[in-house]
Amino acid sequence: MPETLASRPHAGADPLLQLQGVSIHFGALKAVDAVTLQVAQGERVAILGPNGAGKTTLFNAITGITPATGGKVLLDGKNITRAAPNARARRGIARTFQITNLFSGLSVQDNLLLATRGLSRSRFAFWRSSDAQGDERSIVDSALARCQLEGKRQLLVREISYGEQRQLELAMSLTSAPRLLLLDEPAAGLSPAERVVMAGVIRGLPATLALILIEHDIDLALGLVDRVVCMYQGAVLVEGTPDQIRGNAQVQEIYLGRPRRA
Ligand SMILES: Nc1ncnc2c1ncn2[C@@H]1O[C@H](COP(=O)(O)OP(=O)(O)OP(=O)(O)O)[C@@H](O)[C@H]1O
Ligand SMILES: [Mg+2]
Repeated sequence: MPETLASRPHAGADPLLQLQGVSIHFGALKAVDAVTLQVAQGERVAILGPNGAGKTTLFNAITGITPATGGKVLLDGKNITRAAPNARARRGIARTFQITNLFSGLSVQDNLLLATRGLSRSRFAFWRSSDAQGDERSIVDSALARCQLEGKRQLLVREISYGEQRQLELAMSLTSAPRLLLLDEPAAGLSPAERVVMAGVIRGLPATLALILIEHDIDLALGLVDRVVCMYQGAVLVEGTPDQIRGNAQVQEIYLGRPRRA
């Protein structure tokens, strides 16, 4: 019999996201190998790990871009392991990408408007009511403010700095009002000053929004999260609070024993 909300004993007490033994194997390569993890509403979790550890592939299992080959992904206690990426997005999962993904010849504001319409049912409609336009405007304004881009709305994407482009990508991911946001290396390639701005933007995201942050800059990541998961060769090696991770010998060996990527 299919499970319903009413049939479960602790309906409403489910974590926002549960990964139960999630694997993605590409032939013999265990890119993600039996990862178990829970994220509560509003919780902020960092995923650390060296290049090739499986961090982005784990994000793909959560968003559905590459469905898990083993294990289960649950959102609000419901099995979404086989759900399509757009169905997961409608249920509240959003992500940013490791590489930039913007329309460089359009303005900051128009990129945000396009993102806003991406999830709208009327996305193919030519005519939009003034109410719909007002809603869009307020979503765009709020995303611009959250990401410290209010003064840049009329500029073309190619006219703003790389750091501002990354802020814009984050702003675009907020337009769907997600409950879980996956950030894949949001500070990659940023200057030290741009990193400070990005950290401030992430810190200022709504407290109810759960975050999973992949980041190679350990100091930046540990300053932004409640909990840290360290992956190595597809599996979870260590999990703990930022303080526990800072002093962990295995984590230090992984990072200090090899050159850290900038
Ligand atoms: N579509 C794919 N087909 C085959 N192998 C893949 C595919 N995607 C990823 N991989 C492999 O899976 C492993 C994990 O890759 P992944 O991109 O998840 O690592 P990562 O932890 O995000 O690394 P980085 O820090 O460099 O971004 C790597 O060995 C990668 O080459
Ligand atoms: Mg990656």
